[in-house]
Amino acid sequence: MAGIRYDQAADSESASFLRESEDPKLPARGAVRRNGTSSHIAVPRCLAYTALLFMFVNFVTLIAILHIVSLDGQLHERIESGLSETLFGKIPKSTVVFKPDKTFNVDPFGPDSLEGPWNNLSPYGKGHIRVENPSALGLSGGFPLDDSKHGPEEYTISMFHQLHCLAAIQSKMSRLLDWYHDTNDKEYLKFSLNQEHMSDDHIYHCVDYIRQSIMCSGDTTLEKARAGENGKPARGVDGWDVVHECPSFDAIFQFAAAHRSRNITGIQ
Ligand SMILES: *[C@@H]1O[C@H](CO)[C@@H](O)[C@H](O)[C@H]1NC(C)=O
Repeated sequence: MAGIRYDQAADSESASFLRESEDPKLPARGAVRRNGTSSHIAVPRCLAYTALLFMFVNFVTLIAILHIVSLDGQLHERIESGLSETLFGKIPKSTVVFKPDKTFNVDPFGPDSLEGPWNNLSPYGKGHIRVENPSALGLSGGFPLDDSKHGPEEYTISMFHQLHCLAAIQSKMSRLLDWYHDTNDKEYLKFSLNQEHMSDDHIYHCVDYIRQSIMCSGDTTLEKARAGENGKPARGVDGWDVVHECPSFDAIFQFAAAHRSRNITGIQ
């Protein structure tokens, strides 16, 4: 997962898995065929035509109403079956082998981390994206990006919020450990732990939020026994060298950058 940088982020709107927007439109359906209008009943012609026209209009209206009702049903079904697919299209899968990576053992919000591995997990825009037509996707409640009633809104891709939260926990932990190991003075600690993203409230929020994110992801990969002495399997797991199948991080990263609602960077 290392080595992902902003400058790779697709600035164009060409994220490969991006599907054309799917605004539900009323298809021009129900081409109604008019059969011969010759009548055996002696009715004035214009009256017959008027009656036919009336029936025709009613018929078309009925078809239109039925159609709107069924479209509404489809929309609800789509939301229940995973709303984001409507926006993202089918996200490609990638196989990832979990490996230990000590480069992440740093303070993600620390002064040395601007170019660090944690920051490289945050796309250009920080995972905040612009959704042009939220109501067509059944979305509401995003931050409005202009004054129009059904205009574009800002939403945040959860994965990047999750990573930000994990980074905050790691940051607080590493600062507390620095202090514990006497490599940080208490004044700096007080200052740094009172910063917005490091307050106790934010950290507890993050733990609660990540707990629910992990439970939601339901990764059922089966992990093998860890390597013990002489490479023999030992009782227990460490999770390393196990293959997982994941929605492609790179694809989501590219999508986030291409659809960013703000030109901001960084994991903090
Ligand atoms: C972000 O920067 C690009 C140019 O790099 C500019 O076209 C765009 O308007 C900016 N977007 C915002 C939201 O400021």
